Amino acid sequence: MDPQNDWPEKWFYFNEDWCRRNTGKWFGLKPGVTSMGIGELDFPPHPGVLKRIYSDLHNIGTGYPEDRGLDRTIQAIASFQKQIFSHELTLDELVIVPRVTFAIEAVISAILSDGGEVVVIGNPVYGRFYDIISRFSKNVSVVQFSRIADKLALDMASLEQAISSRTKVIFICNPHNPTGYCLSQKEIESIGKLAKLYDALILSDEIYGCLDLSGKFVPSFKIMKRMGVRCVALSSFGKAFAVNGFQGGYMMSDPDTINRIHSFFKRPVFATSRLTQLSMEGCVDCAKDWLTHLRPVLYNNRNYLHELLAEIDILDLILPDAGYSTWIHVRKSGDNSDVSEQISDTLNIQLGSGKYFWPKTNNHIRINFGTSKENLMGKVKSIHDYFVNQYFPKRR
Ligand SMILES: Cc1ncc(COP(=O)(O)O)c(C=O)c1O
Repeated sequence: MDPQNDWPEKWFYFNEDWCRRNTGKWFGLKPGVTSMGIGELDFPPHPGVLKRIYSDLHNIGTGYPEDRGLDRTIQAIASFQKQIFSHELTLDELVIVPRVTFAIEAVISAILSDGGEVVVIGNPVYGRFYDIISRFSKNVSVVQFSRIADKLALDMASLEQAISSRTKVIFICNPHNPTGYCLSQKEIESIGKLAKLYDALILSDEIYGCLDLSGKFVPSFKIMKRMGVRCVALSSFGKAFAVNGFQGGYMMSDPDTINRIHSFFKRPVFATSRLTQLSMEGCVDCAKDWLTHLRPVLYNNRNYLHELLAEIDILDLILPDAGYSTWIHVRKSGDNSDVSEQISDTLNIQLGSGKYFWPKTNNHIRINFGTSKENLMGKVKSIHDYFVNQYFPKRR
């Protein structure tokens, strides 16, 4: 691929460089260091999101939000699920939540309130997920994906071994952070069959679902409903629409499970602010335009990064099916130092470190490619040259 010429037509918003330095992705970094680790897009949100907030705020008011969220926002999310995933939801199958991680904690604590074990699918596991889950369950089993060429696959034998009558929750992150792997429909159905057999609930984080670059993503709740398996699926617009700072999300499940989780807390903890709900409506307004333009940018960024780094023999790459992160194993022996720290010290590029994922390792890096073409090309070339110089110095 020729990155100069084969990129899709420029779209203004995806080439506006460095407008988002003042966000959580950048906090704590020394001046001059570029952040390419945290899961946040560098781009500003679609102007339609802000337009909706300015034009409609007076209509929804500024009072406390309803427990389950505004009916009109829930309706907008239902139409988004239908439009993007052909996923038909009834309005009582949807509630607004303050954040996805908050909702994971709420579901796990409510479901495990009288004990039980959790099976987590996918290895490594995002550190925050592992911390939340292990706080509520003394027994957490992690089922690995097995590597086949540049892809991953669920090892069904390990899954069958991990699940028992003590399993209360099977947690899936689909698309997976950090590998970007999307479970196939067949894999989701296999998980569903086991969940049904042992009466376990499936908890699925689908925050990167609409950034599917492979045409593989299938919403779990859609399949589980058909199979008669209990499932809670969580998502938000934050990661995909560059609005992480609004802090909101939504939960999809059957009304009984939603009520059970709500009544466990006995207080209105769920919905996020009215302003954030309005921003979600704005994301729905511009979803088609935004995703139609963003996906090819991410697709090309991903391919550029992979083609260049594939030249480095000591790097094991997995091509992500979705999202804007890639997870790389650096096959180095001898020294035990953290690769991301070495790169940060040498190149002033802050990558995601393997130590933020369970089981903590220092020879994995996560690179966020949700950035402008110019930034991506410059930084990935430096990372490429770093590995060439570090591990394959030129013979004199
Ligand atoms: C897969 C995944 N889900 C959820 C979150 C966090 O979501 P929220 O900010 O809504 O809590 C992250 C953050 O990096 C993530 O990677």
